[in-house]
Amino acid sequence: MRLTNRTKRLVASPIAEAHAWLAHRDSTRQLLDLSQAAPSYPTAPVIARRIAEVAKEADGGRYAPPPGLPALNEAFSNELSRDHDCSISPTQILPTAGCNQAFCVVTSALTEPGDEVIIAVPYYFNHDMWLKLDGVTPRYLEADEGGSFSLDKAAGLISERTRAICVVSPGNPTGHTLPPDDLEDLFLFARDHEIALILDETYRNFRASNDPSHQLYRYEDWDQTLVTLHSFSKDLAIPGYRVGAVVAGEQLIYEILKLLDCVQISAPRIGQEAVVTGLNEAGDWRIEQADRINQGLNQFRAVMATEPGGFQLASSGAFFGWARHNFDVPTAEVVKRLVLDHDVLAIPGTAFTPSDDRWIRFSYANLQADQFDEFGSRLSEMNGA
Ligand SMILES: Cc1ncc(COP(=O)(O)O)c(C=O)c1O
Repeated sequence: MRLTNRTKRLVASPIAEAHAWLAHRDSTRQLLDLSQAAPSYPTAPVIARRIAEVAKEADGGRYAPPPGLPALNEAFSNELSRDHDCSISPTQILPTAGCNQAFCVVTSALTEPGDEVIIAVPYYFNHDMWLKLDGVTPRYLEADEGGSFSLDKAAGLISERTRAICVVSPGNPTGHTLPPDDLEDLFLFARDHEIALILDETYRNFRASNDPSHQLYRYEDWDQTLVTLHSFSKDLAIPGYRVGAVVAGEQLIYEILKLLDCVQISAPRIGQEAVVTGLNEAGDWRIEQADRINQGLNQFRAVMATEPGGFQLASSGAFFGWARHNFDVPTAEVVKRLVLDHDVLAIPGTAFTPSDDRWIRFSYANLQADQFDEFGSRLSEMNGA
């Protein structure tokens, strides 16, 4: 048997790599784990009850209809239509096994090997990994200091093989939310170049504002250009039940269903049932979680304002802080010292950028309210280290 270089030349998941350091720890101090962006809290009681019920129902373990449980498509189309003051049809929604799968099937439906997709840097690492695995070349569009993108730079990356431009807002790893006007500029740019704008909105409900995240669904022909990707993993704290969604035109969804049929058949029924309950009955709980995480953001920013250990916070929001270290060693070494000597687990920025520019991602949302000061003290221990 021969293993393919397509997978061999990629690193394993950066999360798994960071966790591998835990085996080398000999500290007895409690670890502060700011590595993963998965909710560290349980799902809403009403969702947990529904999951238990579905497990006992006669059809609880059956495949779900591939285009999605009608109740989910309806509940989510209602939510998006309400939030964006527009009309999204249930047929423009396709549940997937998480937002990662949503990205994979969308880009596979839009590209052929050798094609190119522009991805905003810093990128969400699985986007970069998947494109490379699928034989697609990622072209990197660097964000400016404020987190926006220059359309001139983007235009410089367009070739006849470009099929899409992809942005994540709020961003992972930066937490930066792109303003609706920036998203509109990107939409018009994509439309002019006859490519897709893929917008990953995994953290949409963790924004500080309740205003619509964008106005793009108001364009009558939005679905000829825009594809939005969603995750219920964080929003409803059910990452293990694997549900996300694609929101797109029916023609694209029809093609994606062929891909989904091969790899997944349909998104898990039990997860979809959990989402239906979450969307219809866990509204207050969702707001409480988002509020709590936003309060954590204020604590995190207050701690980072003192630049503990020389770490400078460049951007933060919705789960993440994106900070620069000032050590003259590779970032992997800094992350190793953080975990082995200072009991803080974080992800090196090299997971999200093509080169080592001294970045580190901290998932502050994993900290409890009483852990922020301790986190700051531990970073300060790095001074002079
Ligand atoms: C930007 C982004 N997209 C997608 C995902 C994957 O989410 P899911 O669990 O729905 O596959 C994540 C998870 O961290 C993410 O940060």
